[in-house]
Amino acid sequence: MTVVLEYLYPIRTYLIVAGTIEKPNAMTADWVIPLSFEPSLVGISIEHTRYTNKLIKEQKNFVVAVPTLELLRDVWIAGTTSGAKTNKAEKMSVTFVRSEHVDAPSIKECQANIECRVVNEVEVGDHTLFVGEIVNVTCGDAFISGKPDLNYSYILHSSFGKGFTVNRQEEFKP
Ligand SMILES: Cc1cc2nc3c(=O)[nH]c(=O)nc-3n(C[C@H](O)[C@H](O)[C@H](O)COP(=O)(O)O)c2cc1C
Repeated sequence: MTVVLEYLYPIRTYLIVAGTIEKPNAMTADWVIPLSFEPSLVGISIEHTRYTNKLIKEQKNFVVAVPTLELLRDVWIAGTTSGAKTNKAEKMSVTFVRSEHVDAPSIKECQANIECRVVNEVEVGDHTLFVGEIVNVTCGDAFISGKPDLNYSYILHSSFGKGFTVNRQEEFKP
């Protein structure tokens, strides 16, 4: 079967941060899945070839950072270059800051930084599904009330391939 997963798009785009504050690495990922309320679990599907896959297998923690449209250039750098060959922190304009509960750093300019400890790893085809327990969250303006602000229209979504979009401001009740 050829690639058909594009029918699931657009979906939200995130930055997955691994490494340490001394040597951070961010990669772009849109295969990020809420999995459980209690305990709070999130899944990230990371291809075997990614440097991030190696880092998370070693350090057993990561941060899911929520970027806005302003960070599009950085999202593109993080999604098209590998930390195995390039120090992306030098190329990106974002500020890596210490997380409160995990070694993987957070990104100051992101609207939320979700700190996770790996509780399970499942090999799924050519990706690893890392299941992370959320141990801490820090938020910016888009989540200032403690939940997503639907009027905040600049949360980044991938429309597959090289395209991106942002969320609409309307909410529809069933
Ligand atoms: C919009 C976008 C979404 C992406 N989503 C994923 C993803 O969910 N999982 C994945 O393994 N790679 C994904 N990638 C590809 C990685 O971000 C890319 O291969 C990156 O260079 C890996 O960096 P690393 O080697 O430093 O880990 C995505 C790329 C882009 C541009």
